[in-house]
Amino acid sequence: DDPNADPFAIAAEAAAQIAERTGVASHDIALTLGSGWAKAADLIGETTAEIPATDIVGFSRPALTGHVGTLRSILTPGGKRALVIGARTHYYEGHGVRRVVHSVRTAAAAGAQTMILTNGAGGILEHWSPGTPVLISDHLNLTANSPLEGATFIDLTDLYSARLRRLAREIDPSLDEGVYVQFRGPHYETPAEVRMAKAMGGHIVGMSTALEAIAARQAGMEVLGMSLITNLAAGISPEPLSHAEVLQAGRDAESVISALLARIVAAL
Ligand code: 6GU
Repeated sequence: DDPNADPFAIAAEAAAQIAERTGVASHDIALTLGSGWAKAADLIGETTAEIPATDIVGFSRPALTGHVGTLRSILTPGGKRALVIGARTHYYEGHGVRRVVHSVRTAAAAGAQTMILTNGAGGILEHWSPGTPVLISDHLNLTANSPLEGATFIDLTDLYSARLRRLAREIDPSLDEGVYVQFRGPHYETPAEVRMAKAMGGHIVGMSTALEAIAARQAGMEVLGMSLITNLAAGISPEPLSHAEVLQAGRDAESVISALLARIVAAL
């Protein structure tokens, strides 16, 4: 939180702590498991170590139920080392964007070259019923912020890797894709904001992922983004939104989408 601190140095320190605590010198891939995706951690391989995230420098105490606060080192059947981040700091918590992207920078410092970012989100397209997984093809960052500081003019043309999306579609050809819109939250959008997001080319609304994806790209990682549509966005659905229903939709879809994600990881 010290503005003079170097966030990359803190991430390097966190990665060193993870290497020491897990006994795994380097990880190959990292996954942030959002609402509805937690079960994937049990399906992608054998957990060799699990650490409370708050034991590692820079990780904040989780603010929400439905978000598990551990870091897991997993050995996949293919022999890859996966770092599963079950602790996400959301931008709406107000701790600043450095905290939000710390886990991604830590994963990069831990060696990960692939970053899989998942979330539970609202759908703008009516045909996406709750429980539908969607590949993120691009994003609109409406946070008015960036994890980059100073003159860091990086290219975001292929931010959400076309190669990884193709690979995911080889596993499940029915996977749709869409443009993710990150709002600050923590409230859900008004119907007018959802109409704005739609007019701007958005398909999915949420409160995470875009800032993390930018940091992952800055770190040179290849990014795969996936949303679980937990509900239709405000005004698209005639029903008012409730956080409890969002969590329940996540639980209902969890087994299916976690199995899908595990198959994608196995194919990497
Ligand atoms: Cl409708 N909006 C946002 N921003 N996040 C969500 C959501 C909606 N549904 C689940 N997460």
